Amino acid sequence: MSKKIATGVNGLDELIGGGIPEGRVILIIGGPGTGKTILCSQFLYNGIHEKQENGVFVSLDESKDHFYSEMKKFGWDFRKEEANKKFAFIDATRISRVAMLKEKIYKEETRSLRGKRLSVDNLIENLQSQIVHVNAKRVVVDTLAALIYRFPDPVERRTAIVDLIESLADLGVTSLVTTELGYLGLERNAVEEEFLVHGVIMMQTLFSGGTTTRAIQVEKMREAKVNPSLVPYSIDQSGIEIFPNMPLFGEQ
Ligand SMILES: Nc1ncnc2c1ncn2[C@@H]1O[C@H](COP(=O)(O)OP(=O)(O)O)[C@@H](O)[C@H]1O
Ligand SMILES: [Mg+2]
Repeated sequence: MSKKIATGVNGLDELIGGGIPEGRVILIIGGPGTGKTILCSQFLYNGIHEKQENGVFVSLDESKDHFYSEMKKFGWDFRKEEANKKFAFIDATRISRVAMLKEKIYKEETRSLRGKRLSVDNLIENLQSQIVHVNAKRVVVDTLAALIYRFPDPVERRTAIVDLIESLADLGVTSLVTTELGYLGLERNAVEEEFLVHGVIMMQTLFSGGTTTRAIQVEKMREAKVNPSLVPYSIDQSGIEIFPNMPLFGEQ
């Protein structure tokens, strides 16, 4: 059995059998607004503060300033952690745009994967050096769903995703990677990333009797005894909390 890494999210370790197996990649699937970015940031922030495990956040859809100001609302001062060399933010939105620029310049080359693969390679190199720079043990990639705009071709997109996820597994860090359900307009069973990762956690918003309930479920976790139930979670000013023993829809 591998060592378990505490997620830093109340209730989550209990669901997944004690924590994330060290060195593995876990996929978080959820629609917009389900709290994927908050959960991942909580994992990194509490890693730094409770476990002395530094982190790197790779953003494919948000700028650094936006991320820092959003997370400050939860009392998580990532700017300060960056200054203390405990945290690094990689703005991969720009790297993706470089790929699009390349596409315009080297029209010929884009018939092959060269232009775009370069940018994923750059990202992986950059990630590797930031992991060394802050001695990171935890990495987040948020969100693969954004790759649909940079890699409209499904084969190229899949190659990019496979490269990213495989390199995370090789880098010796414990990672959370997010994606969105239905971002391809496909059915549930068509989320290909699921097959590449060690575990899958699904976040969703349910509607019933005029009320909405946030619910989370562990869909897959290799080598672990998990609680597979759909259980409620909340988001408030201190972040995400999961209630593994509470029924959905508040019936007592
Ligand atoms: N202080 C708060 N109290 C309650 N809900 C909050 C608070 N801050 C953010 N949220 C909720 O968190 C969600 C956004 O979380 P986020 O992690 O950005 O989602 P995602 O990354 O999945 O799109 C929104 O639904 C928002 O209403
Ligand atoms: Mg987000």
